[in-house]
Amino acid sequence: STEYQFILASKPDPSVALITLNRPKALNALSSPLFLELNQALFEADADDAIGAIVLTGSEKAFAAGADIKEMKDKEYSDVYKNNFLENWGQIAKLRKPVIAAVSGYALGGGCELALMCDIILASPTAKFGQPEINLGVIPGGGGSQRLVRSIGKSRAMEMVLTGRQITAQEAAQWGMVSRVVGEGEGKVVEEAIAMAKEISSKGQIAVQAAKEVVNAGYEMTLAEGLRFERRIFHGLFATKDQKEGMAAFAEKRKAQFTHS
Ligand code: CAA
Repeated sequence: STEYQFILASKPDPSVALITLNRPKALNALSSPLFLELNQALFEADADDAIGAIVLTGSEKAFAAGADIKEMKDKEYSDVYKNNFLENWGQIAKLRKPVIAAVSGYALGGGCELALMCDIILASPTAKFGQPEINLGVIPGGGGSQRLVRSIGKSRAMEMVLTGRQITAQEAAQWGMVSRVVGEGEGKVVEEAIAMAKEISSKGQIAVQAAKEVVNAGYEMTLAEGLRFERRIFHGLFATKDQKEGMAAFAEKRKAQFTHS
């Protein structure tokens, strides 16, 4: 597989891709070269038929401490505008396969936004989420004023974005930003995310992709449009072998053998 400088890509299971941000000296600050590698690894995993779900993680100390401030500090408006700085961050949201973020330690600024681009966030008790851009004289640039609001609501998002306060894993769970806080212990949150990814991979992959597509499409639509889109995709799944197999297996009281077709 490809050799990377700022990330590690592995397969802890034949059906699971694990991508680990690996720039420890900078607390996984998301420099442009790191993001290029991340996008490449994500697209490779998305295109690999054997992979059903992707886990994205960082280190015990930091999921990611944000965009690389040292890379940004001397940029001019003309540079960032002309080159559409951070535009390629949105690529993750275009992946078809589910991405689970396993967050320990700091998830700040772009790190918090990166977690929010994933489909599911699992947090270790050490996780700390924040949008400290206000302390740098700027605002979030990777979705922190948009996805965060949809995730936790306006007042809480405003508090985070305007004060820069970090929230604990517990608060993030109470607010619905993370699906749950996983028990103590080094590596526990990654183990749990891999187990979840394995379970998702064992389902019919067409239905998995359809479910992700429909949930995400709902963010861009009215309720009536979203419900209609859901029903159409639901109808469409009756053209798959996996629907026949899944329902036959239930009727015959056996485990379904999905062929992802
Ligand atoms: N960019 C570049 N370097 C960073 C960084 C970042 N976002 N975060 C940490 N580092 C570097 C530090 O500069 C330091 O490097 P040196 O050893 O060369 O000095 C190294 O990582 C270790 O960091 P600290 O010594 O600061 O570690 P700490 O444990 O004392 O503090 C911290 C940890 C609270 C996370 C602190 O590092 C910090 O506040 N980091 C910046 C967080 C931040 O402001 N993030 C938002 C970035 S802007 C953004 O993300 C824009 C956007 O919306 C896209």
